[in-house]
Amino acid sequence: MEKWLTIQQIEQYPEINEQQQKEAMAQCIAQVKHNLPAFETHFPAANSENNFYTPGINTDWTSGFWTGEVWLAYENALEEEDRRLFKEAGDKQVDSFLERIRIKHYVDHHDLGFLYTPSCVSAYKLTGSEKAKEAALMAADQLMTRYRPKGKYIQAWGPMDTPENHRLIIDCLLNIPLLYWATDISGDIRYKEVAENHIHTTMKYIVRDDDSTWHTIMFNPETDEFSHGATCQGYKDSSAWARGQTWGIYGTAIAYKNTGREEYLDYFRRVSGYFLRHLPEDLCPFWDLGFGNGDEAEQPRDSSSAAIACCGFLEMSKYLPEKEAAYYQSIARKLALSLIQNYQVTDVSVSNGQLLHGTYAKKTPYNTCANSGVDECVIWGDYFFMEMLTRLMRPDWNMYW
Ligand code: GLY
Repeated sequence: MEKWLTIQQIEQYPEINEQQQKEAMAQCIAQVKHNLPAFETHFPAANSENNFYTPGINTDWTSGFWTGEVWLAYENALEEEDRRLFKEAGDKQVDSFLERIRIKHYVDHHDLGFLYTPSCVSAYKLTGSEKAKEAALMAADQLMTRYRPKGKYIQAWGPMDTPENHRLIIDCLLNIPLLYWATDISGDIRYKEVAENHIHTTMKYIVRDDDSTWHTIMFNPETDEFSHGATCQGYKDSSAWARGQTWGIYGTAIAYKNTGREEYLDYFRRVSGYFLRHLPEDLCPFWDLGFGNGDEAEQPRDSSSAAIACCGFLEMSKYLPEKEAAYYQSIARKLALSLIQNYQVTDVSVSNGQLLHGTYAKKTPYNTCANSGVDECVIWGDYFFMEMLTRLMRPDWNMYW
């Protein structure tokens, strides 16, 4: 077998059907309900340990995903009593997010969108919660403090006064929708201007000639001009970190929705094509797209990447010509079938997560991260898996992003 499937081979795979979608969603909702006693006002860590999350405080960049699962369970639950339980839990968690941004607890980074979109923008859209609106607007203001006007980008990590931290990362495309929402709600166009500048700077540098993506772009600390591309979580600088590529897929889809810039359609096609040309036999990517069939013994999958890609394909299919839209929808349904059959948790004694075999960060001789959450559930994988099912079941779903 070749290292990766061809597009023609992928096209032969079966698709998830409506009954399977319903059953998979029912399973997810049951899992959220099962977890509520332990996680009503506590938050799962970024990744499980031996497939089980432990409860902690609202401190990491990832806490919003669990609340996002609660809101997805709320809006997809069939029983009124379940909806009541989920709403009660979601509201309590919104209180925690409001407190977190008020006291500025671990919010000196760009992940305000990941934190506040699935937790609070969602709550505002679904329930009209004023607390959620206040929290998300404060988070948008905090995100604005990360903007570097000279380079026209939002700095990812680290204090703003340190020269080694002039960096944007591809993941940030998912933090940007918070700024568009803030403009919609407040009427203040400064959020949107920063959002568009950041997207444009990202698009200018992040896609490589072969349609793979850089994880991070470094800027000259004096001039804020482009310096070089690098990785933190991919195998090496020049390889394609699987999740980064899928933040690119979903990120360009949302960027197109918000800007209508034609060239972002092309970026979407390019980054999607690269991803699809690097899938192994079960359609779920290895954690870095440089790995493929035959690497199973040493290299873990990142199932969260498949779920994120599906969300991007389904979002972009709203804006593409009919035939192309049908193509990406079909691809999403194929990846989704593999996820429910090979990766979804169906037994609470196996895991308290939703999706097995994610990878947060894997150390290599060539990257700068520490091993964490390797071949584990990752909380954003669980969230995007539920979002993917929601999108498949309800194409007119009012997205949180
Ligand atoms: N945004 C960090 C990650 O995807 O791991």
